[in-house]
Amino acid sequence: MTDLIWLNGEIIPMADARIGVEDRGFQFADGVYEVIRLYNARPFTLNEHLARLHQSAQAIGLSIPLPIDQLSREIHKLIDQSNAKEAMVYLQLTRGIAPRNHQFPDHPRPTLLFYTRPLPPLPAPGQSTGVKLCCVPDERWKCCWIKSIALLPNILAKNHAIAHGFDEAAFVEGGLVSECSSSNLFAIFGNTLLTHPAGPRVLPGITRAALLDLAPQAGLQIDERPLRESEIPHADELFITSTTREISWVSHFNQHPFPPHCGQKTLKLHQLLREQIIAMTGAR
Ligand code: PDD
Repeated sequence: MTDLIWLNGEIIPMADARIGVEDRGFQFADGVYEVIRLYNARPFTLNEHLARLHQSAQAIGLSIPLPIDQLSREIHKLIDQSNAKEAMVYLQLTRGIAPRNHQFPDHPRPTLLFYTRPLPPLPAPGQSTGVKLCCVPDERWKCCWIKSIALLPNILAKNHAIAHGFDEAAFVEGGLVSECSSSNLFAIFGNTLLTHPAGPRVLPGITRAALLDLAPQAGLQIDERPLRESEIPHADELFITSTTREISWVSHFNQHPFPPHCGQKTLKLHQLLREQIIAMTGAR
């Protein structure tokens, strides 16, 4: 894999990339991002990620500086030249360089960049150790559907979890659990798959959407509603999802231990997701 970056239209060595000190992404976190997983050198659900990028950009009054189909071709070009195979693409769009001022510049010149980073292969479904989740107060804004680069509350939550012996933080407000610091949360009760509805409180995860589509094939009906913190220990199975982790089963929720193995329905959903990944990317 060659360490390259696509920066404002040019593919250059990562070591040569420079971002101005007055880039509004750097000074204000005035930007949005995407993380796309590559399997076998092919991006999985690229169109869905680019559609979400478009929504996020539009929500903050920012235009993507090239048409989406051209952006898609440029991403493929970077992947080829980087020789990336099992990896992720990190993409960031900011409002670009302008003298520091809270007011938007009159003629913004957005900074768009993306590059690949290798990712270790994920353990086979059921072979992984479970994730320990702890609840933290949700101190984020109410536009969590925008994939904003302003991630400080997420970072603080994640580090709070790790400092207390957990792996991931679940956000709670008014006794309701929304999602985690960098993943969506799902619970299974009987034959029902529950997850928080899309809206102001959660990122509309691409993996989340894929699983909601696959759920009927796993014999699960869907109930999109916030989960009460108090009902989660009574769930049959609990898992989290993201582009980089696919599905991780949860072994502990706060002090409550779940059975020490991945549940059958979670396994089935993961198998269906893997089949889709293989069908779409040729991954093994
Ligand atoms: N995060 N919720 C939050 C707050 C997230 O940051 C993420 C992903 C998700 C899952 O979304 P998706 O299935 O589209 O990856 C949910 C990425 C991976 C990150 O920030 O690295």
